Amino acid sequence: MCNLPDEIKPAKIILIGRTESKLQAKGAQLKAANVPFVYYICDLSLPRIIIKTLKTIVEKESDIGLMCLNAGTWIVKRKRHFQEDGLEQMYATNFLHMAMFIEGLKGLMTETAKRTQTKSRICIST
Ligand SMILES: NC(=O)c1ccc[n+]([C@@H]2O[C@H](COP(=O)([O-])OP(=O)(O)OC[C@H]3O[C@@H](n4cnc5c(N)ncnc54)[C@H](OP(=O)(O)O)[C@@H]3O)[C@@H](O)[C@H]2O)c1
Repeated sequence: MCNLPDEIKPAKIILIGRTESKLQAKGAQLKAANVPFVYYICDLSLPRIIIKTLKTIVEKESDIGLMCLNAGTWIVKRKRHFQEDGLEQMYATNFLHMAMFIEGLKGLMTETAKRTQTKSRICIST
């Protein structure tokens, strides 16, 4: 990222994850590359936390031109694992949070695209 020309450097990166030390480490790399960033701590398997995080993002952030959804977990045991809230863990972590992020941030992404006269994009890896 250090080598990217200014015109294609991201204006700001919003990091979302559950492990603050990892977010800080990633943030240090972005800082070294002179890319503005902010991070939000969020356990992506927990819808009630996701709803709060999405609300905060919509309140605080003004632009989202690209949303990358790639958090996940790979549980290969035969028995399905259910969380305390009753959701099956792989469903919650690998799929439900992605639908919630798309639903929660598509308004802001649409506004960004209109204001900047470009496209807003969503990239999913699951
Ligand atoms: N690697 C493969 O062969 C493969 C194959 C098929 C599909 N996939 C899918 O591709 C995606 C990425 O895989 P990967 O191999 O890059 O996995 P990875 O290295 O284990 O990374 C997964 C990331 O998801 C985060 N994460 C997991 N549960 C979370 C939660 N509840 N809340 C917030 N963050 C959470 C992890 O955060 P922490 O670092 O904080 O734990 C980690 O940063 C996953 O969806 C995976 O299921 C991978």
